[in-house]
Amino acid sequence: MQIHIFRDAQLAGRAAATLIAAQLLRKPDSILGLATGSTPIPAYETLIDMHQTGMLDFSQAVSFNLDEYVGISPEHPCSYHHFMQEQLFAQVNIRPENVHIPDGNAPDLTAAAKAYDAAILQAGGIDLQLLGIGRNGHIGFNEPGEHFVYGCHKVALSQSTIQANRRFFETEADVPRYAVSLGIGSIMQARQVLLVATGSDKAEAVRRALEEDVSPQWQASILRTHPDVVFLLDEAAAGKLRHRP
Ligand code: GLP
Repeated sequence: MQIHIFRDAQLAGRAAATLIAAQLLRKPDSILGLATGSTPIPAYETLIDMHQTGMLDFSQAVSFNLDEYVGISPEHPCSYHHFMQEQLFAQVNIRPENVHIPDGNAPDLTAAAKAYDAAILQAGGIDLQLLGIGRNGHIGFNEPGEHFVYGCHKVALSQSTIQANRRFFETEADVPRYAVSLGIGSIMQARQVLLVATGSDKAEAVRRALEEDVSPQWQASILRTHPDVVFLLDEAAAGKLRHRP
């Protein structure tokens, strides 16, 4: 496990982009696990810049996103389909047929989730998984609970996540109550994991993930058992750590 602490969120994002770029330069047909939320935006901006200056080519890259809300259309401005299109895909040369995002409107969500896991396996597994973290320690939409769920699945969002994500929607009632998320097993199978956490509202989740027992109550804590995980934090998110690296 590696932990790097940066002055601010922008630098943590640029560091994430640097590691993603290194992965793509080493293996142009990398399978990238991608994340949404406000945290990865500086990383995506940096990747776009690297692409537009001619340094980085996404033409052979394949992506699998972590999660999607259930019951809003892909065109909805708050859907993760829309987010990825706006924040990254439309601005780099990734092929649309190489992009995968869970379908939150599939008539049979269980079958669609199984097919999503199967597609990742068939592609050869995720080389590099980018993650943010929820205030309650969730990764993807794996909410605090009694267990770690292995595969892609439908999740009931916790009240804390609904409130945290309310800022993107007009009213709290508009925030979807369910989502589809890659499971912890699929995330743990990625060959490398990069978790980016920025801002003081993530400090407790980061401390629990790094310094308390591994527990499904703080789902990100399991990442400590991953053989190749890098935590990229800003000072604010690292603010509650008792042991700084
Ligand atoms: C969302 C996403 C997560 C993300 C988290 C934090 O609920 N499902 O993948 O890491 O919340 O979001 P943000 O980066 O906006 O704080």
